[in-house]
Amino acid sequence: MSTSLDGRKAVVTGGAQGIGRAIAQALADAGAEVVISDINGEGAKSAAAEIGQGAEGVTCDSTDAAQVERMLEDAAQDGAIDILVNNASIVPFIPWDDVDLAHWQKIIDTNLTSVFIASRKATDMMRAAGRKGTVLNIASNAFYAGTPNMSAYVAAKGGVIGFTRALATEVGKYGIRVNAVTPGLTESDGVKVSPHAESFGFVEMLQAMPGKGQPADIAKVVAFLVSDDAGWMTGQCVNVDAGMIRL
Ligand SMILES: NC(=O)c1ccc[n+]([C@@H]2O[C@H](COP(=O)([O-])OP(=O)(O)OC[C@H]3O[C@@H](n4cnc5c(N)ncnc54)[C@H](O)[C@@H]3O)[C@@H](O)[C@H]2O)c1
Repeated sequence: MSTSLDGRKAVVTGGAQGIGRAIAQALADAGAEVVISDINGEGAKSAAAEIGQGAEGVTCDSTDAAQVERMLEDAAQDGAIDILVNNASIVPFIPWDDVDLAHWQKIIDTNLTSVFIASRKATDMMRAAGRKGTVLNIASNAFYAGTPNMSAYVAAKGGVIGFTRALATEVGKYGIRVNAVTPGLTESDGVKVSPHAESFGFVEMLQAMPGKGQPADIAKVVAFLVSDDAGWMTGQCVNVDAGMIRL
């Protein structure tokens, strides 16, 4: 087994709280040098301070290409990062009758275009530095379920899954791997304070195993997928939801 991430440089977007924070913790615990990038810079800094182990928190809006490029260059120092986790997202709860173009565009920008922006720069840097890096995208099982009150989100996450497959094909020849994880409903900081929190009972009924998904449940799978143990996996989407969706 080679789950060690010793000496790897990782960037986790949206890592100030929730699943992103748990991913940052898991990667740091495995030995990676982690940069937590979040629009909530204070949250990113305090998460990094709590995680320790050389983690750093920075302010960065994942929808702003110039900010993302600068953040990745700063994180790379000597040429490239090894691991990019595209996790930053808005998890909306908005009935179809209230969905307008402004909402649609905001969700597509934050949850899909942001993945392109960071992946574009990170894979360019990996190639230039000759690094066999990896990109891990956080999608959602809402794509498979067609979850209500999330139409733009479901569309964006479907785009993330499609992009994961396509990018894996484009950069596989450079030894760069691209995978995705689709979490089910997870008790993150964001979900806890949203109407989604009321769905746990219903979702648990659909799961093969009882219980509420925790950020650490997702983070452990991410840590595996970005490690050399998953070195023969690319273009894949791994579903992590206690068996709610059986692909
Ligand atoms: N929690 C769930 O039930 C669940 C289920 C499936 C998928 N997911 C996915 O998991 C990931 C994390 O979700 P979560 O529940 O932990 O969310 P969360 O709301 O707890 O945290 C999201 C983080 O993203 C940051 N963020 C938002 N917009 C940003 C931007 N423009 N630039 C940079 N950072 C930004 C926020 O500041 C926050 O720190 C997301 O991709 C989400 O879609 C979550």
